[in-house]
Amino acid sequence: MSSGAGLRLCVVISGRGSNMLTIARACASGAINANIALVIADRPEAGGISSARELGLPVEVIAARGFADRSAFEQAMREAIDASGAQLVVLAGFMRILSPEFAAHYAGRMLNIHPSLLPLYPGLHTHERVLAAGDAQHGCSVHYVTGVLDGGPLVMQARVPVLPGDTPESLSARVQQQEHIIYPEVIGLIAAGRLGLRGETLMLDGQVLRAPLLRG
Ligand code: GAR
Repeated sequence: MSSGAGLRLCVVISGRGSNMLTIARACASGAINANIALVIADRPEAGGISSARELGLPVEVIAARGFADRSAFEQAMREAIDASGAQLVVLAGFMRILSPEFAAHYAGRMLNIHPSLLPLYPGLHTHERVLAAGDAQHGCSVHYVTGVLDGGPLVMQARVPVLPGDTPESLSARVQQQEHIIYPEVIGLIAAGRLGLRGETLMLDGQVLRAPLLRG
């Protein structure tokens, strides 16, 4: 699966890797014209590592705690990503804050998925915060990464209802179902040459995209 045609991806994970798996399946089935050149995990215990290896994907574990500081860790990340020939960096449950310098190096070439309807609830514990606020809806967002945490241009969002009796776990599961739909879709649009950033402006099919695409 790592040597296929299309847009070369580096997927960066910290945990279970369910988004990475759905992207890998979309590549393998031909649903999107992309292939995963490398999976990077910043935690040796990340569950997604064994799943990626079972699929035959190249995996590098770059454990942040093995480096003196963030700059040394990010230098190792950059070397691995650039050596893989990746054209797009896909943060998929990556739980570290990247420096503005790192984000600038990959400007227009790095995506993130976040479990909220940004700009609502950047940061951690989004499901708990949505429940505490009594919101009627929640969701997820795919955006380009900039130096502002969870603040880059929004490409696509999916909404889910908050239901009576929801827990952070039930809400998270419903949000993840949508993540697994919208992340491959966005990558597919980029791989097809239909979507991209021109400077700080999102373009879709040659037109300025003024608001995120909505699903769900
Ligand atoms: C996803 O729900 C993703 O939105 C979230 O982590 C989960 C990873 O799941 N990302 C963040 O919270 C980033 N701040 P996965 O490892 O099963 O793809």
